[in-house]
Amino acid sequence: MNNEDKKFYVLLGAPGVGKGTQGKLIQEKTGYSHLSTGDLLRAEVSGGTELGLKVKSIIDSGELVPDHLIIDIIKHRIETDKVKGFIFDGFPRTIPQAEAFEAMLKDEQAHLDGVILLSLDDEEILRRLEKRREIEGRKDDNSEVQRQRLNVYKEQTEPLISFYKNKNILKEVDSSGSVEEVLQGILNIL
Ligand code: AP5
Repeated sequence: MNNEDKKFYVLLGAPGVGKGTQGKLIQEKTGYSHLSTGDLLRAEVSGGTELGLKVKSIIDSGELVPDHLIIDIIKHRIETDKVKGFIFDGFPRTIPQAEAFEAMLKDEQAHLDGVILLSLDDEEILRRLEKRREIEGRKDDNSEVQRQRLNVYKEQTEPLISFYKNKNILKEVDSSGSVEEVLQGILNIL
């Protein structure tokens, strides 16, 4: 399949809003590849790779991994994955990442079809992350790092909302409903 025929969607939203949960379900429903930069980085950390060793302490502190490392990972996957579409989760996360993404897609004669903003209030986000910490024990889900991740989101990722609004490709889905309700809201857009 040519890249220009592939679909490219981004799930945007704060940590714990449900991007990973929905990304997996969308992959099942549509056959698009769910690409979570958080999952990819955690796999590098648990595999003890050179990249994993570089990024472990950054992830554990709730800060963002340097843009160029993330951009390289995504570029490689766009060039090599043989799929009919992508659903990005956790990427782009900064304006420089969004600009690099745009350039990458242009090089591939492709374009971004849509950005889906999942919205939820901070209280419910922290409740969901707390619950996940009890179940999964993710190191960056402890309460201090959770707050830091939310701050980083507001400072570095929220500007992407205006960035994509200005391009008329941003759609918002309320993430406070059940997993099934949120999924339906997203599928109505895709
Ligand atoms: P990443 O893994 O991307 O973390 P995140 O964005 O903080 O997102 P989370 O995985 O915490 O939450 P989610 O929105 O996927 O929610 P989930 O579906 O799990 O990134 C981790 C780190 O990697 C970053 O801090 C950074 O260091 C680095 N990184 C990653 N990408 C990067 C990038 N592009 N640039 C630089 N650094 C990068 O849901 C949360 C919980 O809620 C779950 O338990 C779930 O079961 C539950 N839940 C979900 N939906 C519902 C619902 N509708 N009702 C009730 N519960 C629900």
